[in-house]
Amino acid sequence: MFQGPQSCRNVEDFRRLAKRRLPAPVFHYIDGAADDEKTYARNTNSFDDCDLVPNVLAGVQDIDMSVTVLGQKLAMPVFCSPTALQRLFHHDGERAVARAAEKFGTMFGVSSLSTVSLAEIAGLTDSPKMFQFYFHKDRGLNSALMAKAKAAQFDVLTLTVDTITGGNRERDLETGFTAPPRMTPSSMLSYAVHLFWTMNFLLRSKFELVELKDFYSEGTKDPITVGGYFSSVLDQTMNWRDAEQLRSEWGGAFCLKGVMSVADARKAVEIGADAIMVSNHGGRQLDGSRAPFDQIAEIADAVGDRIDIILDGGVRRGTHVLKALAAGAKACSGGRLYLYALAAAGQPGVEKALLNIRSEIERDMKLMGVTQISALNRDMLRYR
Ligand code: FNR
Ligand code: LAC
Repeated sequence: MFQGPQSCRNVEDFRRLAKRRLPAPVFHYIDGAADDEKTYARNTNSFDDCDLVPNVLAGVQDIDMSVTVLGQKLAMPVFCSPTALQRLFHHDGERAVARAAEKFGTMFGVSSLSTVSLAEIAGLTDSPKMFQFYFHKDRGLNSALMAKAKAAQFDVLTLTVDTITGGNRERDLETGFTAPPRMTPSSMLSYAVHLFWTMNFLLRSKFELVELKDFYSEGTKDPITVGGYFSSVLDQTMNWRDAEQLRSEWGGAFCLKGVMSVADARKAVEIGADAIMVSNHGGRQLDGSRAPFDQIAEIADAVGDRIDIILDGGVRRGTHVLKALAAGAKACSGGRLYLYALAAAGQPGVEKALLNIRSEIERDMKLMGVTQISALNRDMLRYR
């Protein structure tokens, strides 16, 4: 049965559609995670170990689900996490996500490994924009990235801190995934039978890591694995002084992505970060790491009054968002919740995915008996 984005009712529907439309190496790059993918699974399953306790007769005709995080007002409490290589998933890539995020008044996180320039993205949307910064050995590249984010008037700089080396992505090793894609005997058939994707990849504008290509040929001209990129060009000496220095150079809203411990959350406050994304990179780095939802209350109790806390990872439903906010998060973010939709159907897909989760949040708020996000609290949760 032909299924278009309009018939996709949830993230899993989009995942199935993306699996049909993408060559296997590309699908598994999105869908895959590290080692045995235990953390990836727990990221979402952790929400099942906590029940919501609704209140009723609260008069819920008018709902306001807006939040302010990192000084940015978002029309909904979930935003698009930064994800790499988007024009590998759909030929519109970051252009599609920028336009969809704007339509829903939420923030768009743009990766250092973006396949559309920051300048072009900035011209596509007036919604809040986050630039996700990878800290490279090449200090000239770091300065160039910062300058481009400033010139494009991005609102937030987010330093990713959980990729000091590549996670063990065994699906990518199995399929031979690289950026740009390299045909191998095992993957050639998959590219050949996904003609729509392959023709778009070959005939549309050239795939490139726009902000990195003048510094490294890898990723644009020369195929490289993501693990290879992390291990060869990111600076493994990165430390808290570097993070503080980056915050000072940026001078605007600054966030650390990939903080999981209370000790590090406290350090983030000390260096003057405005927010932390409690995240394990979607299970793609340290398998066995705790899930963000399992960890969020501990961190919120420790620093929630001094820094914005964002839960990043595992979110697939509106109830996941409400549970995270009740536990102490200021907002949530997610990657796959919009990436499958991008891969399946470009901008219309991402818009449908954002509509789905916004509708779920609205319905769930009403059923919870709350009309504002600030009304959510831990007393509405019961951990099993
Ligand atoms: C990511 N993520 C990521 N994070 C980051 O800081 N820079 C990046 O370039 C990327 N790239 C990327 C690509 C793909 C395909 C995925 C799935 C993820 C991690 C992302 O920002 C986020 O932390 C996770 O996706 C959250 O988990 P969920 O929502 O996908 O379950
Ligand atoms: C990933 C990197 C690019 O998770 O952050 O694939």
